[in-house]
This record gives sequence, structure tokens and C-alpha cells, in this order.
Amino acid sequence: MILEGKTAVITGGGSGMGRATALLFAKEGADVVISGRTGEKLTDVANEVKDQTGKEIMIAQGDVSVRADAKRLAEETINKFNKIDILINNAGIFRSNEFNDTETDEWNEVMNTNLNGVFYVTKEILPYMLENKGGSIINISSILGMVAVPNTAAYNTSKGGVVLFTKSLAVEYAGRNIRANCICPGLVATPMTKDFMAQKEVMAEIIKDYPMGRFGKAEDIAYPCLFFAADWSSWITGAVLPVDGGYTAK
Ligand SMILES: NC(=O)c1ccc[n+]([C@@H]2O[C@H](COP(=O)([O-])OP(=O)(O)OC[C@H]3O[C@@H](n4cnc5c(N)ncnc54)[C@H](O)[C@@H]3O)[C@@H](O)[C@H]2O)c1
Repeated sequence: MILEGKTAVITGGGSGMGRATALLFAKEGADVVISGRTGEKLTDVANEVKDQTGKEIMIAQGDVSVRADAKRLAEETINKFNKIDILINNAGIFRSNEFNDTETDEWNEVMNTNLNGVFYVTKEILPYMLENKGGSIINISSILGMVAVPNTAAYNTSKGGVVLFTKSLAVEYAGRNIRANCICPGLVATPMTKDFMAQKEVMAEIIKDYPMGRFGKAEDIAYPCLFFAADWSSWITGAVLPVDGGYTAK
């Protein structure tokens, strides 16, 4: 088991990619902590992990856009496991609106979760990684952090920020054995995209932009997370990996 003895914190662990990553990491022997705002969803994932792997995972309920919650997440994890080896900044929200109709509240809501949330959680966890003389930080951006589409200016900007934040961390902490890498998923079937993907005609158009002819599954993202978390990628930092069936290769 490649993650035996490692402690991994996954934000937004109550559904979608976070859930799939929690399951995979537990199967690979990690001590897993999932955080999110909704206790019920976190409990469901913890029960699923227990059923499938026999492992107990830790739940830390909280909002990544609240600095005090991020601090509590780090402290509760340290109290239980004494160290943090892996952080997956996965929690995120999607909002779509023409820029002309995007008001300050919506802009701030997206930034507070997708960008400030990554800042807060990393701020609280990095000191423990420095103390432990190593760590792997994996940020979930998006293909929309690499290329833009209309009506998603706030989301595009937040995810573009995550890409450069990752590179900043990578160059700043490379000498202290802390790696930071970024995954940019294409369209993946999760609760976030359920309603959007139910629009058959819209999807028939969008699939034409995907050379591999299919959309993603949450597991398609969990495996690259495992790659960046494990020592397999020990000489990789600052990477921005599209996981998108070829969308950004065109
Ligand atoms: N699904 C896609 O097509 C897609 C594509 C590219 C990038 N992404 C990104 O992948 C990540 C995971 O998304 P997903 O598709 O699994 O969606 P999801 O909605 O299933 O999962 C996101 C999780 O984050 C949680 N969350 C949201 N705001 C939070 C907050 N303030 N504090 C704590 N938790 C919060 C949600 O409750 C949810 O459980 C997100 O960052 C998303 O932007 C998704």
C-alpha cells in the first residue's frame, strides 16, 4: 500500500472527487481526514470507506472559506495523527453568469471558497509540514484555470489563481521538501455537474470538444491525486496536469 503511514487531509471530502480520493487513499493505507460543511455527507463517506476498507477515517466539519475552521481542521488532525503529509485542496463551487450580471456577492462567494479557501487551509497546514520536514500539496484547479469559456469569469479567475498559487508554493518550498502540484480536471460527472450534465442537447455539443469522446468520472481525478501524493512523483513540483480526455490538447 503506497500511502501506508501517511496522513492525508482532503477538503470537500463529502462528495464527488473528494469522496473518490478519500476511498482510494484509504485503500492505499493512508490515515484520511475529510472536511466539508455538511456533516451528513461526511458521515456517509466515512461509512462507505469503513464498509469498503475496514478503515476509520476522521471527519472535521468546517467551511474552507472561514479561517478559524481551517485552523481547527489542522489542529484536530494533528491532535489525532501528529503529522500531516498530504493536503488536497479540493473543496470548490461553480457559478455561471454573464460577467455583466456578476455582482460583488457572487464574485466574492466564488473567490472566498475556490481561492481564499485554498489559501486559508494551506496557511494552517503548511507549518506542520515544515515541522515534519516534508509534504505534498495537491490543488484541484480546472481546465477553466487554464483556458476560459464565456459566462464563468469568477470561476475562471479563481481557478487560474489556484494554478499560480501552486507554482508559487512549489518554487518557494522546493528546498524544504514540500511539493505542490495542481490538477486541472475537465468536465467530470459529480454532484456539482449533475444538473448541467442532464441537458442532453447541450452535452451532445460539448462532447465534441473532448477528443477521447467521454466525460470524466471522479476516479479519473483520484488516481492522479494518488500519483502526486505518493513518492512516485518525488521529483515533480509545480506541475499543472490537465486531466481532461484531451480537451486542452487541441
Ligand atoms: N466536476 C467537474 O466537472 C469539475 C471540473 C473541474 C474542476 N472541478 C473542481 O473539482 C473540485 C471538486 O468538485 P466536484 O466536482 O467533486 O464537486 P462536488 O460538489 O461533488 O464536491 C465539492 C465539495 O466541496 C464542498 N464545498 C464547497 N464549498 C465548500 C466550503 N466553503 N467549505 C468546505 N467544503 C466546501 C461541497 O460541499 C462538496 O462536497 C472543485 O474544486 C471543483 O471546482 C470540478
